[in-house]
Formats: sequence, C-alpha cells, structure tokens
Amino acid sequence: MARIRYGIVGTGGMGTGHARTMQAIEECTLAAVCDIAPEVAESVGEEFDVPYYTDYHDLINRDDIDAVIVATPHYSHPEICIYAMERGKPVLSEKPIAVTVSGADAMLEAAQRTGVPFGVMHQSRSEPIWQAAWDLVKSGRLGELYRTMLVYADFRSQAYYDSAGWRATWDGEGGGVLINQAPHSLDRFTWLGGLPSRVTAFSATRNHRIEVEDVAAAMLEYPNGAVGYVYCSTTEAPGTDILELSGECGKLQVVGKDLRFWELPEGVKRFSDTSPEMWQRPPCNEVPVELPACESGHIAILRNFARHLLHGEPLIAPGVEGIKTVEMINAMILSGRTSEAVDLPVDRARYDAFLAELRATSVRKDTGPDRRITDDVHH
Ligand SMILES: NC(=O)c1ccc[n+]([C@@H]2O[C@H](COP(=O)([O-])OP(=O)(O)OC[C@H]3O[C@@H](n4cnc5c(N)ncnc54)[C@H](O)[C@@H]3O)[C@@H](O)[C@H]2O)c1
Repeated sequence: MARIRYGIVGTGGMGTGHARTMQAIEECTLAAVCDIAPEVAESVGEEFDVPYYTDYHDLINRDDIDAVIVATPHYSHPEICIYAMERGKPVLSEKPIAVTVSGADAMLEAAQRTGVPFGVMHQSRSEPIWQAAWDLVKSGRLGELYRTMLVYADFRSQAYYDSAGWRATWDGEGGGVLINQAPHSLDRFTWLGGLPSRVTAFSATRNHRIEVEDVAAAMLEYPNGAVGYVYCSTTEAPGTDILELSGECGKLQVVGKDLRFWELPEGVKRFSDTSPEMWQRPPCNEVPVELPACESGHIAILRNFARHLLHGEPLIAPGVEGIKTVEMINAMILSGRTSEAVDLPVDRARYDAFLAELRATSVRKDTGPDRRITDDVHH
C-alpha cells in the first residue's frame, strides 16, 4: 500500500506525539523532522531514525516529503504552512491555524490559490460524540437556533505556564486560555452552532502569574437574533465541558461525554403561535442517539489526512474551517480588553494594531530551560 511520507516541523511535546502516533498508522510514515532547537531536532531525529533539520525550508524542500505537519508555537503556523503550500506540499497545521484573523486569511488565500490540501488538527471532531452531534445539526434536526452555550472550564498549573518562554505571553502566543486551551471547544461550538455576528466579552488574569487571560466569558448575538454564552478558563477543577444548542425543532446537550437530544415535533414558536392552551408547553421527546463506532483523536486526523491525499477521503477537519475559531478568539480577546462589543468578521487591521501594541510591552518569561511535554489529554 502507498504511504504518505510526513515531515514534522516543530518536534516539541505535540510534534513528538505525532511522530509516535504515526508509527501505528499503515497509511503514513515519518520521513524527516525539523526543530529550531538543534538538540531537540537531533534527539527526535535519532529516536525515529530519520533525517533532521533546524530550518523548515530544508525539510519542506526534500523530494521525499509528501506532506508537512506544522507543530510549532502558533505565531509561526501561517509562515510555515504557506511556504509548504507554495511548494505544492499538503499541510496539516496544529491548532489554532493562526494567532490573528489576518494570518488565517493569508493561509486560506494560499490554500485556494495553490489548490494544495490543507487540514487542521482539530482532532476532537473525530470523536463519536461530536460526529453524532454534527449529524444531528447537519440533518437540520435542531431547526432555527435560538440559543447556544459553551462552558469550557479546565485547569493549568503555574508550572505549566512556566514550562516554556513562549507560553502565556502576548509576544509568544498572543493570548491565554482562548488561544491555547479552548480552541478545540471553540471549534466544536462554531462548527455546530455557526459564528455569532457580535461578541461582548469579559476577560481577566485571575489565578496565574501570566500576561494573558486565564478567564474569559462572552455574550453572543447571532445574525438571526439568537443569543449565546461562552465561558472559558484554566482556573477550575474538576473540569467542566458543556455545550448546548437550542432550536425551534430540537435541543442538543453535551455534558462531558454524555450527549442528549430532544426533538420538538410541533416546534417551539409554531406551538406558541397555534396552541389555544394557556399553560401547555411544546411536546418534546428525548431521542436516544447512537454513537458511531469510529477511530478518534490525533491518530484519526493523521490517518484521515493521509487517506485524503491517497484516496480523496473527505477531510474531518478542513484547514479552511480553522478560521472560525480564530474569529472567536480574536473577538473575545479584543472585546475583553477594550470592554466594547466587537462585530464579526473581526476588523483585521484593528486587531493587528491592537495585538502589536500588546506585543510591544510583552516580556518573555525567564523560567529556565523549556520543558516540551504535552499533557496526556492533548489540549
Ligand atoms: N491538537 C492538540 O491536541 C495540541 C496539543 C498540544 C499542542 N498543540 C499545538 O501544537 C503547537 C506546539 O505546541 P507544543 O505544546 O508542542 O509546544 P512545545 O513548546 O512543546 O513545542 C514547540 C516546538 O517547536 C519548535 N519551534 C519553534 N519555532 C520553530 C520553527 N520556526 N521551526 C521549527 N521548530 C520550531 C520549538 O523549539 C519546540 O520544540 C501549538 O500551536 C499548540 O497549540 C496542539
């Protein structure tokens, strides 16, 4: 069987994780690695017995690299991904695809111009529970949306934030919980519920010695008048992960690993308009939802991207859809810092100028040698 020969750029915690995961996938093989830190490139190259580089151009320009995985800190994703696309190399970017919407725009433009396949590592889309949720949404079972809600409350220690100079600084990653820990939840939220047209956010640095936010919340307004609420933090234990979408014809609720769905055969507004009863509520039935048996996680996305290149299998997480998360992140950061409502699409020039100001006073942390270890749940 033909195998896709992957090159990985950035072999820290996540890049090395992908190199390991790849060993169990028949459709691909690891062909080369690159890390800007020479000792990291060398040790990962030797561990997997592949050529290693410190300059991503050298890796991408190898003839025996069929596709590139970019697992560097987020600011460099657009530059490296666009370079790969322009050399005709399919590219799978880590999340978030970019720190800014303007960076994401440039990636989408390059993908369209070159026609090169582009994927994003939003691996939670592959989980059975989210595939089932997507099937419900896609088939119109919720009807017109009235309300959305996302609560993603997680925990990170100060030691985590101190583990690398780039983490939790404006200049190193351009945001806090919103840009690093919440992107998978925000991806699912915008994939299933769409993008709001206006965001009014609050953000704060509550429990950590970091420059960026560890708590953020927002009220959302949607183009059809629906409203929503989002809360994200790294200050809570045990963690909470809740998503709700409530519509005219159905209601979807995912709490942790439990998915529930109720259908409203007579609708909500339709019932309200037509029922002669003063106190009756619209009938609703909870419908059991069968979860598909499917592979999930990083392995599913790495395999799916390889199969996409080999056989045209549809992408589980197309790179172009990564921009939705970046719109939400930028809107919440901008609104949280300015205490003003922000309209979507986010004003590109305004966000670039706003972030440039924050970066100008950002201080790189000096907390000793970087520790490149990805957590066991891979956020
Ligand atoms: N999908 C997921 O579940 C998941 C999980 C963890 C991290 N990530 C993402 O992966 C990316 C990396 O995170 P991490 O935790 O592995 O960080 P890390 O600090 O452990 O690793 C990043 C590596 O990139 C290298 N690097 C930096 N600039 C480079 C460049 N220009 N060229 C080559 N190498 C370069 C660094 O030396 C480092 O070894 C981030 O964007 C993060 O959001 C995704």
